[in-house]
Amino acid sequence: MLSTTEQQEILRRRTFAIISHPDAGKTTLTEKLLLYGGAIHVAGAVKSNKIRKTATSDWMEIEKQRGISVATSVMGFDYCPTFRNEAGQTYHINILDTPGHQDFAEDTFRTLTAVDSVIIVIDAAKGVETQTRRLMQVCRMRKTPVMVFINKMDREGKDPFDLLDEVEAELGIKVRPLSWPINSGQRFKGVYNIFQQTLDLYQPDKTHVTESIQFSDVTDPQIAQLVGDSDAAKLQEDLEMIKGVYDPFNIDSYLAGNLAPVFFGSALNTFGVKELLECFVHIAPSPRPVAAIEREVKPMEDKFTGFCFKIHANMDPNHRSCIAFFRICSGKFERNTYYTHVRKQQQMRFSSPTCFMAQRKETVDEAFAGDIVGLPDTGNFKIGDTLTAGENLHFKGLPSFSPEMFKYIENADPMKQKQLDKGVNQLMDEGVAQLFVSQLNGRKIIGTVGQLQFEVIQYRLEHEYQAKCRWESLQMYKACWIEAVPDSDTAADIKAAEEELQMFKRRKPQYMAFDKDGRDVFMADSAYVLQMAQLDYKHIRFHFTSEG
Ligand code: G4P
Repeated sequence: MLSTTEQQEILRRRTFAIISHPDAGKTTLTEKLLLYGGAIHVAGAVKSNKIRKTATSDWMEIEKQRGISVATSVMGFDYCPTFRNEAGQTYHINILDTPGHQDFAEDTFRTLTAVDSVIIVIDAAKGVETQTRRLMQVCRMRKTPVMVFINKMDREGKDPFDLLDEVEAELGIKVRPLSWPINSGQRFKGVYNIFQQTLDLYQPDKTHVTESIQFSDVTDPQIAQLVGDSDAAKLQEDLEMIKGVYDPFNIDSYLAGNLAPVFFGSALNTFGVKELLECFVHIAPSPRPVAAIEREVKPMEDKFTGFCFKIHANMDPNHRSCIAFFRICSGKFERNTYYTHVRKQQQMRFSSPTCFMAQRKETVDEAFAGDIVGLPDTGNFKIGDTLTAGENLHFKGLPSFSPEMFKYIENADPMKQKQLDKGVNQLMDEGVAQLFVSQLNGRKIIGTVGQLQFEVIQYRLEHEYQAKCRWESLQMYKACWIEAVPDSDTAADIKAAEEELQMFKRRKPQYMAFDKDGRDVFMADSAYVLQMAQLDYKHIRFHFTSEG
């Protein structure tokens, strides 16, 4: 049994990711949350891990940025809320950073498997953008509780009611505003905090945390004195409308992933951020149970379990060591204790596990469910690997997504075939891209989310593995994992569906490939080919993600 103190350690953890379309303000918001947490004292300390546009032509820059993103991968800090916190409870917050560049979206998808909730940042002027939509799909699949922060209210933005409608329609989730803006842009005057029933007047300040003026009642005549009669009247009207249109906030719907509370503010001006954070620590879930193939693992179990969701290669090519990031799913992780590496069936212990506090990486003696530990690795781990105190467990839900771009990878230096194979395999284990092998001719195909990944692979093969590769273009639309779906559970139906699948594979050898785990993948070269296959083969399901 975990001791009461250990259980409290787990209960006070809040592990989440901030996601957004590039430029909506994710980095700025992260920084401001750290500012409130006292983890940093001035803004500007958090480096964006954005791979900037120039990076395509500047390799040192990419390498530098990969380095930065190690340091900022997880940011932990303690926070003691001021609202409804007589007991002085402090929360331990772990923010998992996600790469901003969309070519690394798969990295972000995997990070989402390691968090208990998510904050989505939306630009008030731009509304819901592509990347947000895609990331939200993953949250919906996993029923992750989501909060929305509508950012950049200091600029002219869309009407807040329109924005809420847009979020509901585009992200497929019900919303409930918990704060409400008074105007936007030049006329932005502040935010009424519905959750705490206070009014915070806007005071732009980019670098420091400012205390805002607070009122307890929206009908207080002082509000009209401060924001003007018409804005005060409009605010009251809007709040009435919100009451009429939206159901009261229901925490269970939020925790079930069906309802997103919405906050408005300006991260750059450190405005509306405290409200978000205070509400977040109150309502966001502590570590949630995690599904393994064998059973559901609960955070309060006394035995340690965890899975690897990210591997970060070292930048020094002479020491090919990596950091494997593990999400602790249950119990307590201890330094220098033997744990079972389930895939390898090996006992391993770690003398220098690291946790992340603000900007520092520290060796830790123990960490709890909900935490992320970084384990130095020399090629033992791949994404999805499980560590336990002995039990044979395999955590579910580290999906591969159908890539968007495909190329044949060819060896450009015949003397270095072995190096190339090793490099490709290790980079795939790290989750840099996906490898498919044609069932017809054994040629290797690399699938990525964006062009930048091909360049990263080529560069890293050359610098870390001394192997040279060439890309050959390939006309490809989508890679789908295929599965037989019988009409019913009867033996005859199961057999019929299985036969249909086998026939499909025989008829389409040129389209068939294996993924890294030897699963069948249908490589459709056009939307038409895929549609026809879906129409012709009713007992085959084409999946665009694989639960790895
Ligand atoms: P990202 O991580 O989501 O990609 O976005 P990031 O925080 O880097 O913010 C993107 C740009 O938006 C930055 O400007 C940032 O200063 C600006 N920004 C963030 N929050 C607000 C806000 O509340 N109001 C306004 N007006 N702007 C905001 P940049 O010029 O691209 O970068 P920088 O040179 O300022 O760092």
